[in-house]
Amino acid sequence: MRTTTGYDAPGDLAQREALLRAALDPLRIPRHVAIIMDGNGRWAEIRGLSRVEGHRAGREAIRRTLEAARECGIEILTLYAFSTENWRRPPQEVQALMDLLVETLGREAEELHRNGVRFRASGLLDEMPGAVRAALDQVVALTCRNTAITLNLALNYGGRRELTEAARRLARAAAAGHVRPEDITEEVLGRFLFAPDLPDPDLLIRTGGEQRLSNFLLWQVAYAELYFTDVHWPDFQKVHLLEAIASFQARDRRFGGLDCG
Ligand code: IPE
Ligand code: IPE
Ligand code: MG
Repeated sequence: MRTTTGYDAPGDLAQREALLRAALDPLRIPRHVAIIMDGNGRWAEIRGLSRVEGHRAGREAIRRTLEAARECGIEILTLYAFSTENWRRPPQEVQALMDLLVETLGREAEELHRNGVRFRASGLLDEMPGAVRAALDQVVALTCRNTAITLNLALNYGGRRELTEAARRLARAAAAGHVRPEDITEEVLGRFLFAPDLPDPDLLIRTGGEQRLSNFLLWQVAYAELYFTDVHWPDFQKVHLLEAIASFQARDRRFGGLDCG
């Protein structure tokens, strides 16, 4: 496993970025990359700043990563922004995160649109504050016809809740006679998930040093390649995304079958 410190000099970064760009195989770019953006709080603590400052700095990392993903030809970037468990944080932090989200969506909408980004959100959006829902709806509507890249923000997202909701909706459909239990396949269940039209992630990155899923995309990451880095999310640079893709390209994906290489 490759890990990086996040404290590289800018010159080194630019050089590493150029080398990696040249070395990547453009035909084997992961189609869908999902990121658990972790480490904002620790990034801030190290610097004697408030956790909210860490989240604010994390926003810049999102901007860089989205740009790098678009430049590489990644089709879908899913970012874990708020989990169903994150409501357990102090109310001031939760409020600050919601405010930051509304502010950012308002501020960035036009630029996302100009850059051809199709913006989506997946999670229990009905349970989000009204101001967040309104801001999300606006950006989704504005950008729905764009094709350069899909940015899928996982918000109030929890893998177990997603599967529970799918089970509930399937049970309702069965009770109403629309589906027979014996006809429920993986494909059918998949249609009841939050973003049924998106392919499964090929590569899952987690920053911040922890090596766990924290309830993220439990169904969809069945065969994703996992990449963990110690870099705190606000320190995540384009080069770190390129390093993750290089690691992905060096792997042999077998999906349980035999090596066909
Ligand atoms: C990730 O950073 C952002 C969210 C969960 C919203 P954290 O806030 O979890 O940062 P650490 O893990 O405490 O450093
Ligand atoms: C995962 O990070 C959730 C997001 C990045 C939104 P957490 O910081 O909430 O995860 P744990 O608590 O370390 O598992
Ligand atoms: Mg965390």
